[in-house]
Amino acid sequence: MAGEPVAAPAPDERHAPWIVRVLVPSVAGLLALAAVAWVAWAWWQSRLPDSYNVMAFGSVDYGGGSVVGHGSHQASTAGGTSVSDLRGPRRGTPDFRTTLVASKSTVRLQSGRRVEVWAFNGRVPGPEIRVRRGDLVEVTLVNRDIEDGVTLHSHGVDVPNAEDGVAGVTQDTVLPGGRRTYRFRVDQVGTFWYHSHQVSSEQVRRGLFGAFVIAPRRSAAPRTVDRTVLAHRFGGTDALGLVDDRGAQRLRAGTRVRLRLVNTDSFPRRFAVRGVPFRVLAIDGTEVRAPTLLRRTILELGAGGRYDVGFTIPRGPAELGLLGSSVTIAYGAEGTPATASGEDPVFDPATYGAVAGTPFDAGSRFDREFRMTIGQKLGFLDGRPGRQWTINGKIYPDTPTFMVQSGELIKVTIRNRTSVDHPMHLHGHHMLVLSRNGRPTTGSPWWVDTLNVEPDETYEVGFRADNPGLWMDHCHNLPHARDGLVMHVAYAGVTTPYLIGGRSENHPE
Ligand code: C2O
Ligand code: CU
Repeated sequence: MAGEPVAAPAPDERHAPWIVRVLVPSVAGLLALAAVAWVAWAWWQSRLPDSYNVMAFGSVDYGGGSVVGHGSHQASTAGGTSVSDLRGPRRGTPDFRTTLVASKSTVRLQSGRRVEVWAFNGRVPGPEIRVRRGDLVEVTLVNRDIEDGVTLHSHGVDVPNAEDGVAGVTQDTVLPGGRRTYRFRVDQVGTFWYHSHQVSSEQVRRGLFGAFVIAPRRSAAPRTVDRTVLAHRFGGTDALGLVDDRGAQRLRAGTRVRLRLVNTDSFPRRFAVRGVPFRVLAIDGTEVRAPTLLRRTILELGAGGRYDVGFTIPRGPAELGLLGSSVTIAYGAEGTPATASGEDPVFDPATYGAVAGTPFDAGSRFDREFRMTIGQKLGFLDGRPGRQWTINGKIYPDTPTFMVQSGELIKVTIRNRTSVDHPMHLHGHHMLVLSRNGRPTTGSPWWVDTLNVEPDETYEVGFRADNPGLWMDHCHNLPHARDGLVMHVAYAGVTTPYLIGGRSENHPE
């Protein structure tokens, strides 16, 4: 075979039409330029103003219900209600009155170790508030020397909006030398807690919190030893109350005990009850109906959550252990009880206790149905680039505001599309858990104010809009909230005169 091989005319850029040669590089250039411009714009528009009204931002979501007045547009018109008008009773002699003074302080843990804290009345946890259902409660908050200011939020207590203690939403931060009085009547029973809601990611970690217990009018179990146990990590030191090693409560066999466990940290905490069968008597303050005896079961509390645990002191040793640490409290006889293994199952509130009637259920007709899908995406939060938290795809402050009206029945489907837990906390209301991952709950009605949503979980919850105001709905992993995992539930027509941001000094998270 002779002759030149016949080459197929190869597409070669030298042969590309001149128009392509000119345009391709400039198109690429333009695209790059457009990308840079877009990023610059995203950065620019993400910057928060020096101070702003929380109602002026966010995407208003009506949950498929009627479009009702958006507070910010009604601020100047008649008929709107300011959060500052939604106060508790102004008159009447309080049944319980106390003053909490916030200051920098040092406390000694049981081991002798001293820790620098920010404390109420020089104590961490702060003084326990213990009242009875129906009491008129008056708490005066004084700030001695916390520069950023402080507030007092009663977590899980469904107070009138103006008493909710959220800086920049329901009040201004209380600066050093300032004071503020909260007055409200308590109409619930159970274990709650209080904490500052100004720069809360720092202030709660440093110790500005305490227990808030509401007992029934007449005690159901008069001879029960009733104690709060607040789990907290001080710097690197784990503690139950002030016990950072081994604590002991000498109690006679046969004594009934109720431990009110509170997770004041920003991550889930696990507890083991060893040497004695126990019951979970209440969840987030609501009594469990017909709680069965549990053994070798780990109790896991999401951030901000509470379990009340009941048992009878046995003849042998029994103890409460904070898993992941060596902290224990012994109850009753001396000695070391058989320890639970790390393999034990984790308590599941969705299937515990007996079914009971509820004011509404999964089959009810809901006035509004919202979705709250938690995700993450690359973007800017107040000008800072990074992987930001999103709610329904939006970065704070563009996260949704759920608009509701008094009396409505609301359903929210919460989805976690991230790889970490998000303990979602709604202020001012209690939510009934309807289903988890499509499966209806089957136990005692499971009411929560803080619902720990694990990766890939989906929950349906319902609540009655019966407490008008402008309410926070946020992650109680407080650094997550600081980083924008925050939104609001707003009642139509309610406005706030307060501002958030640098110049206002209000920084709720
Ligand atoms: Cu316990 Cu908005 O907080
Ligand atoms: Cu979170």
